Amino acid sequence: MTDLDRAVELLQAGELVAIPTETVYGLAANGNDAHAVAKIFAAKNRPSFDPLILHFSDLDSLEGYVLNLPELASALLSKFSPGPLTLVLKKSDKVPDIVTSGMDKVAVRIPSHPITLQLLSRLNFPLAAPSANLFGKTSPTQPEHVQEQLGDKVSLILQGGVSEVGVESTILDLTGEEPLILRYGGLSQERIEDFLKTKIQAKTSSSKPSAPGMIEAHYSPGYPVKLMSDSNNLKLDEFTLDDAILNFSSYRSDFPRERQLILSKGGDLNEAASKLFASLRELGALKPKCIWAETVPHKGLGRAINDRLKRAAATSHPG
Ligand code: TXA
Ligand code: MG
Repeated sequence: MTDLDRAVELLQAGELVAIPTETVYGLAANGNDAHAVAKIFAAKNRPSFDPLILHFSDLDSLEGYVLNLPELASALLSKFSPGPLTLVLKKSDKVPDIVTSGMDKVAVRIPSHPITLQLLSRLNFPLAAPSANLFGKTSPTQPEHVQEQLGDKVSLILQGGVSEVGVESTILDLTGEEPLILRYGGLSQERIEDFLKTKIQAKTSSSKPSAPGMIEAHYSPGYPVKLMSDSNNLKLDEFTLDDAILNFSSYRSDFPRERQLILSKGGDLNEAASKLFASLRELGALKPKCIWAETVPHKGLGRAINDRLKRAAATSHPG
């Protein structure tokens, strides 16, 4: 019996399985089964007002879950799926309320990792799956990260290597008058705009905790994070030697090299995104007093990186 066979059996029996995706690892359960989905919230310590994404194997399998797939939705999914795009659409009664936190809209996506696509094609239900981390913590981009935080709560972690994209999917809400980005992610705003031939708005932040997907304080590596716009503009006396630095493309020469990481030597934003969460974890393992993180150019996947850094910096720490 392969791990994939076991995953099929466990999910059919209402158990949790961690799955690889191209963005980050997910903690999956049968999306039609409210009992199974409740286990996700319990394992992650996730508040019930934060709804989940349903993962499908292809466009056809969405049928029955959303009310009349708008033309714009099928065009976007045909173009960008499988891939890091999540659409928010009007849901049908088939979707349990626990998945959507009682809202009448549901988030759907077709992930592109081959193992998870195979898994989905063997199931006759979609997978509800948030990122496979404890609530409020950094998202996992490799199976070891899942093991660390959820190893004792999940029956199986499907091994799928390092997530290629490294930041979560872009969430686009199609239920309003105009498409609206709710979360910057692995598909850039520019690519969506080029395809739609129009500018789109983003509303990725809200002070109301009831607004899903927009919680200000998130992605905590366990240590305070402070942002800086250019590592080299910061004077050395603002750091202490107990700190650590996450640079974009070059090391500081006046700070211990072993307490610094760079996201992309060549300044490539896609590479930087793929290394972001693992780098925050690696620096966190040094038990720094503070992690100084350099923001990156605000374009392409840079928007998703800056968004995650901003939220990591907004988390409060008892010490
Ligand atoms: O890349 C990803 O999207 C990963 C992988 C595993 O697919 N999943 C992921 O899930 O990041 P999660 O639960 O960590 O983040 C999903 C976000 C949440 O912040 C949630 O509030 C928002 O999507 N969301 C889910 N359903 C929604 C809805 N109906 N309306 C608005 N936002 C929604
Ligand atoms: Mg998450």
